[in-house]
Amino acid sequence: MRAVATSEERAAVDEVLGPPVSGWHGGDRTIELEGHVGYAGRAAREQRHLLLPALHALQGRVGWISDGGMNYVCQRLSVPPAEAYGVASFYAMFSLQPRPKTVVHVCDDIACRVNGAEPLIERLERALGPGRPGGLVRTPCLGMCERAPAALLQSAGHEASDVSIGEVTVEMLHPFLHGGGWIESPSGGSLGSQPRAGLRLLRRVGVVDPRSLGDYRAHGGYDALRQAIELGPEGVIREVKDSKLLGRGGAAFPTGVKWDAVAKQPVRPHYFVCNADESEPGTFKDRVVMEEDPFALVEALTIAGFATGAERGYLYVRGEYPLATEMLSNAIDQARARGFLGRDVMGGGFSFDIELRRGAGAYIAGEETAMFNSIEGNRPEPRNKPPFPVTHGLFGKPTGINNVETLINVLEVLRIGGPAYAATGTPDSTGTRLFCLSGCIERPGVYEVECGTPLRDLLELAGGVRAGREMKAILLGGAAGGFITPAGLDVPLSFEGARAAGVTLGSGVVMVFDESVDLMDIVLRIAAFFRDESCGQCVPCRVGTVRQEEALRRLVDGGENGSREHDLVLLDEIAQVMQDASICGLGQTAASAVQSAVKQLHVLDPGGRS
Ligand SMILES: Cc1cc2nc3c(=O)[nH]c(=O)nc-3n(C[C@H](O)[C@H](O)[C@H](O)COP(=O)(O)O)c2cc1C
Ligand code: SF4
Ligand code: FES
Repeated sequence: MRAVATSEERAAVDEVLGPPVSGWHGGDRTIELEGHVGYAGRAAREQRHLLLPALHALQGRVGWISDGGMNYVCQRLSVPPAEAYGVASFYAMFSLQPRPKTVVHVCDDIACRVNGAEPLIERLERALGPGRPGGLVRTPCLGMCERAPAALLQSAGHEASDVSIGEVTVEMLHPFLHGGGWIESPSGGSLGSQPRAGLRLLRRVGVVDPRSLGDYRAHGGYDALRQAIELGPEGVIREVKDSKLLGRGGAAFPTGVKWDAVAKQPVRPHYFVCNADESEPGTFKDRVVMEEDPFALVEALTIAGFATGAERGYLYVRGEYPLATEMLSNAIDQARARGFLGRDVMGGGFSFDIELRRGAGAYIAGEETAMFNSIEGNRPEPRNKPPFPVTHGLFGKPTGINNVETLINVLEVLRIGGPAYAATGTPDSTGTRLFCLSGCIERPGVYEVECGTPLRDLLELAGGVRAGREMKAILLGGAAGGFITPAGLDVPLSFEGARAAGVTLGSGVVMVFDESVDLMDIVLRIAAFFRDESCGQCVPCRVGTVRQEEALRRLVDGGENGSREHDLVLLDEIAQVMQDASICGLGQTAASAVQSAVKQLHVLDPGGRS
């Protein structure tokens, strides 16, 4: 028999979709409503983009997604159950099995591993006991690496709440594991220890009240939008082009060129998306900006919409970022209430509004075309390019998309002017960059330095290696980046400097490992991450990430597959195929860190593991 939703599940879904308007939509069949009218499913199908929010509603209310709850969502949105199942089962934050109403997600990713995640998980398992399966879940990086080890606490129910906490101990979580609250450790803030004087992108962080539009305005907020309106869309694009600002999301594409291409598309409507999915292990800079200076992102996205002719913006924020979501939601509401969003923004004669979307735990959803699929209510699988988003993006329309850090740079570009901005940093990497320092570093946190600053200087700002230990290696650019040895500390932190040194800055990860760290354990965790996060759409990545991890394990454990030499060659061949033949950046970079660990750190050489 077809499973039926409980009244609680129906209520949760109705809060997102509104009450059902007919029997067709899952409501009561009444002669008044449907006696003479044929309700087709077209209107419902046009709401498909609400599938992800509706699934979030079910997960949040009861702690898992039952067949009955899913059937109700399918009926309301006219989505085939197999498709909805395909979507729900993709995301790590959704459970399709019954689960306790309170769940602890503990990060076992790299920065947390070197800060005691494994012993913490063992102790938590013992504290929880065997009677509560599903109450403790391992998770990849939660984007709180500066406060490792980190955890996300989820409580389902009418007052569903998610909370991220750092520097976790069993004692802090003990009450929560048994149905009570939790104890938080005092935070020294997520900004590193650098002097405030040099800060540009972070200048309001820790200074402004992130919940107050008034305070934001008192600190220069909305001056940039006013200036943008005076310049007009073409003037804004000219300034952004003059600034030579390159995207900070990983691909380093010129932002002004992208905006110009979207603005020139004759097809309407245009959309603008802010990529706030930040799931690259070791990355947390966007989270800090969103939590501490959320109005800046709302203002910057509004400027992007104005310049590119988009009337609707989507802000897609990582599902594991509850505080950032709350801050952004509040900022959007306040901005709308005071005429900074909506019709005739700031009296400037244009309309723009922002919809906030929560991801649900999928690294690949950060890839731009996968993000469009996610917003549209499909599985977040990357699309083939071309066509590119500037012509065929969200809902098949011209779309601009930028990373959080890229967007807030635009405020600075308008503040000082494009040419003045271009005079900072290096000629090919203008402006400042945010870096996420974590691992075995004295003062972890987000640091802002001019592009071109040597890595050595950045590490000095953060106090160097913790507790006077020896540095063994640095992971630059995240899991999709690569390792360097202490001999490479003079690399300039610019796009061209990194390229010349054969590394990438990626999303600004700088993770330090001292001599006590087992680097092979880190490499294996990275390989497992890519195996887990591959969307499985194309063969080189789906099979390659599995085979890469298997070969590494055999090489470490001494398992049988011909010979050691055979496995080393196999590892190289897999890397080459993934890089050359994968559809998207995930597969193309899934072997980068592994290869650099083998080639630069010699982790697989006899005696290389320590
Ligand atoms: C697997 C994968 C994950 C990605 N994740 C993110 C992300 O979390 N945040 C982000 O801004 N860009 C991410 N990107 C890059 C985006 O596809 C896109 O290039 C970026 O949002 C463009 O913004 P930008 O021009 O401001 O850099 C990812 C790319 C890939 C291949
Ligand atoms: S490269 Fe990997 S993540 Fe990207 S589309 Fe192919 S299978 Fe999916
Ligand atoms: S929060 Fe654990 S590795 Fe980032």
